[in-house]
Amino acid sequence: MNKQTINDLSDAQVRGKRALVRVDFNVPLEHGRVADDTRIRAALPTIRALLDRGVRVILLSHLGRPKGKPEPKYSLEPVAARLDELLPNEHVVFVESTDTDEAIKATHDPANRVVLLENTRFLGGEETNDERLARGLAELGDFYVNDAFGSAHRAHASTEGVARYLQPAVAGLLMQKELDYLGRALENPHHPFVAVLGGAKISGKIDVIEQLLPKVDHLVIGGAMACTFFKAMGLETGKSLVESDRVDMAKELLARGGDKLVLPTDATVAPSLDAPQSAQAVPRDAIPADQAMFDVGPKSAAEFARIISGAKTVLWNGPMGVFETKPFDAGTRAVAEALAAATGKDATTIVGGGDSAAAVADLGLEDKMSHVSTGGGASLEFLEGKVLPGVAALDDKR
Ligand code: 3PG
Repeated sequence: MNKQTINDLSDAQVRGKRALVRVDFNVPLEHGRVADDTRIRAALPTIRALLDRGVRVILLSHLGRPKGKPEPKYSLEPVAARLDELLPNEHVVFVESTDTDEAIKATHDPANRVVLLENTRFLGGEETNDERLARGLAELGDFYVNDAFGSAHRAHASTEGVARYLQPAVAGLLMQKELDYLGRALENPHHPFVAVLGGAKISGKIDVIEQLLPKVDHLVIGGAMACTFFKAMGLETGKSLVESDRVDMAKELLARGGDKLVLPTDATVAPSLDAPQSAQAVPRDAIPADQAMFDVGPKSAAEFARIISGAKTVLWNGPMGVFETKPFDAGTRAVAEALAAATGKDATTIVGGGDSAAAVADLGLEDKMSHVSTGGGASLEFLEGKVLPGVAALDDKR
C-alpha cells in the first residue's frame, strides 16, 4: 500500500498525543444492544496498538443513515458499551455530542484513554463534507487515523475532509489489511485466480466484471444475476429475476469472456420463495415457465467447488442464491466450504463484505478465510478500480 500507516509514525510523533480515529462502527443493533460486533472487533488491533504506544484514542463513526440530525435509535451509546466489554482494561468514555466544546474537553482530559463520540451523521455537514465541520473535527485530535475501510468510499467530513486539516493523516491496521488483501488480488494475484460473483443484479457488478475479466483464470457467476446471462443465451428463465435492460450487455460479456466465464449448468427452482418445500433441481435449459431460480443447482455447486479447489487466489463477492431461506442456501454453502478448504491448501481466499460476509459468518467459517472484508460498498468500489476518497486523503508513503 502506498499510504502511511500508524506504524510509519515515530514514537515522538505520537506519544502522549490524541489520535482522532475514524472507525466504521456502523453495526446492527437489536433491543438497544449490538447484534453483530464484527466491525468493532476488527478495529481493536488499531486501538490497542495506539494505546500501547501511549496514545489516547478518540473514536468517530457513523451509524445508520440519520440524515444530519440526532435520532436516538442511531446513537452510538450501545456501541460504546460493547467496546467497553471488548477492552476489559480500559474504561470507554461515551460523549453524547461530536464537535462541541464538551467533546473537545473530553478529548483533552488525560484520564480519558478511549473516547467514543456520538454519530457523525447527526451533524448536517458530515455527508456534504462541509469544510467548517471538517475543521471542527480536526480540533478533536493531534493526528488522524482512518481505520474505516467500510466507509472509505464516502467523501464525508469525518472520512475525507478532516484529513486536509489534521496531519499526519494515516491508515489504521484494518484499513491497511483490507487494502493489502484486495489490492494484491487485483495487482499481483497468485494463479490460478478465480473470482466468484453472485447476488441479484449484473448492473451492480458490471464494473467489477470488467475489471476482473482480464485478470482472472475463471470468473464464476451464480446468484440471480446468472439468469440475465441465461436470457442472453436464449434460455427460458420462467419467473426468475432478469434485468431485461442488461441482456445485451450479458451477451457481449459472454462473447468476450469465452471459456473464462463459468455459468451454472443447473438451477434450484420453485414456484415462489414461500414454497421452498417444492424446490427442485433442473438443468438450466429446463426452467419451467411458472417457476423461478432461487439457487444454483447441485451440479453447478459441485463444479464451482471443483474450480475453487484448484485455485491459488479466490475472490468471492455475492451469494449464489437466497441463502437466508433453506434449501436455497446450498450453493452459497458449497462455495463457502470450498473457499475454506482452499485456504487449508494455501490458497489466498478473500470474501467481499456485505451478503457473502454475512453468509460466511452464519456458517461459522470466518476463521477459515484468509480475509473477510468489513466493507460491502467499499470493497465493491475498490474492486471496480475506483479511487476511495477516504484512502486518497491519507498521507503518501515517503
Ligand atoms: C456500510 O455499512 O457499508 C458502511 O458503513 C457505509 O454505510 P453507508 O452505505 O450508509 O454510507
